[in-house]
Amino acid sequence: MISVIMGLQFGDEGKGKITDFISKNYDNVVRFNGGSNAGHTVVINGNKFKFHLIPSGAMQSNTVILGNGMVIDPEELISEIKLLKESNKKIIIKISTGAHIVTKMHKFLDKKEESIRSKLNIGTTSQGIGPTYEDKYARTGIRMMDLSNKSILKNKIETIYNMKMELLKDSLYNNENERNRMIDELYSFGQEILKYMDYTEITINNDYNNGKNILFEGAQGGMLDIDFGIYPFVTSSNTISGALSTGSGFSYRKVDKVIGVFKAYTSKVGAGPFPSEIINDNTLRDLGSEYGTTTGRPRRVGWLDLPLLKYTIMINDVDSLAITKVDILGKLNKIKIVTKYMLNGEEIIYFPKRLEEFDKLELEYKEFEGWGSIENNEDIINKGYSALPEKMKRYIEFIEDETHKNIDIISLGEDRKMTITKQIFN
Ligand code: GDP
Ligand code: IMO
Ligand code: MG
Repeated sequence: MISVIMGLQFGDEGKGKITDFISKNYDNVVRFNGGSNAGHTVVINGNKFKFHLIPSGAMQSNTVILGNGMVIDPEELISEIKLLKESNKKIIIKISTGAHIVTKMHKFLDKKEESIRSKLNIGTTSQGIGPTYEDKYARTGIRMMDLSNKSILKNKIETIYNMKMELLKDSLYNNENERNRMIDELYSFGQEILKYMDYTEITINNDYNNGKNILFEGAQGGMLDIDFGIYPFVTSSNTISGALSTGSGFSYRKVDKVIGVFKAYTSKVGAGPFPSEIINDNTLRDLGSEYGTTTGRPRRVGWLDLPLLKYTIMINDVDSLAITKVDILGKLNKIKIVTKYMLNGEEIIYFPKRLEEFDKLELEYKEFEGWGSIENNEDIINKGYSALPEKMKRYIEFIEDETHKNIDIISLGEDRKMTITKQIFN
């Protein structure tokens, strides 16, 4: 079985939890995009694990793979590997020689570019993601394989510096000694990581040919996709299912199932349009502890948005849905879902692209009643779907009817065990 897990909103949908939950059925789990802008949380019997670079399947699968489409901060990677090995000694880690390297200079550039954007500030995670992808596409980027060659490192760092001198002029990196220090540090990181480097596209394809089950774990969400998200308030990579091919070297044609993960409501960190946002009421944010895994920033929260969800389901070609945080949403007395986007009194059937259109959108809602608290109610989990509160089932089935997709995984708590599946995952 070859599957891919994708986020269908603005990130933080609970991809980590769902990846961990189903990863026991897979030999390999592969990340193919993004870097440590991602923060994926997994909770197992009350123990919390946060993954930024390593795939969240690392607690249950045999092998985790970091594909060429990723941008990797080697220092962060080393500390994540150390932590992971404390809880899972047997895990095999493979890192693509072609993945791009995030340096401290890229992190400086990320902040500098944000300051220049001024009003069009994206609210990035400051993890150097944008500048590293800029260098990748400018063909000046540093790749994993370069970490073992000081003269290549020197050449590339100097090229990047020369191209971005104006932006770097009030940074440490304006000083050649500092750049040399960075090169030495990168080289020493490389020595630690060398043993994990691999031609991962070959490994993944060989494993497929040998009948292994492979799970691809997307980072971010459809609305942060560089092409299909709400540009420019997006990340610098493709975050849709098709990106797994370019980000890992494995053909999209061999994927059996695309699993789309969405929160029972919507959340977003960073700036930009958020049509269903709840303004001036922090109840849902507080109930859901909506603070960023990577940055700790308060997340903006809003109602579930069906036009948005239907759009990302289409772009990702989703087969099966997973809903998370249903336990949190049910605590509200009244719940709303956005059913339609209206512009000048008429329903629009496309997803808006122009920022001006978002200002003029009028939304139509459908109201539901809350289903109360089911906190840590393992009894419900053991009994399965039929034991769920009727009001919750009404909410879930309305979404299924509207999207024409089955919700096969229902997450009712942060812990791995607080999860219900319908038969196809059993
Ligand atoms: P990801 O980036 O998509 O992996 O999501 P994050 O891990 O950044 O954010 C999701 C947060 O919600 C994490 O703190 C999870 O532990 C938590 N979470 C996931 N599913 C559920 C759920 O069903 N209920 C509750 N209460 N928390 C959940
Ligand atoms: P996971 O994988 C939520 C957002 C940032 C910002 C925009 C660009 O945990 O779902 P970047 O640092 O990528 O240049 O920031 O994208 N963003 C995320 N928001 N979850 C994420 O990842 C995100 N990765 C990036 O907040 O608005
Ligand atoms: Mg996250």
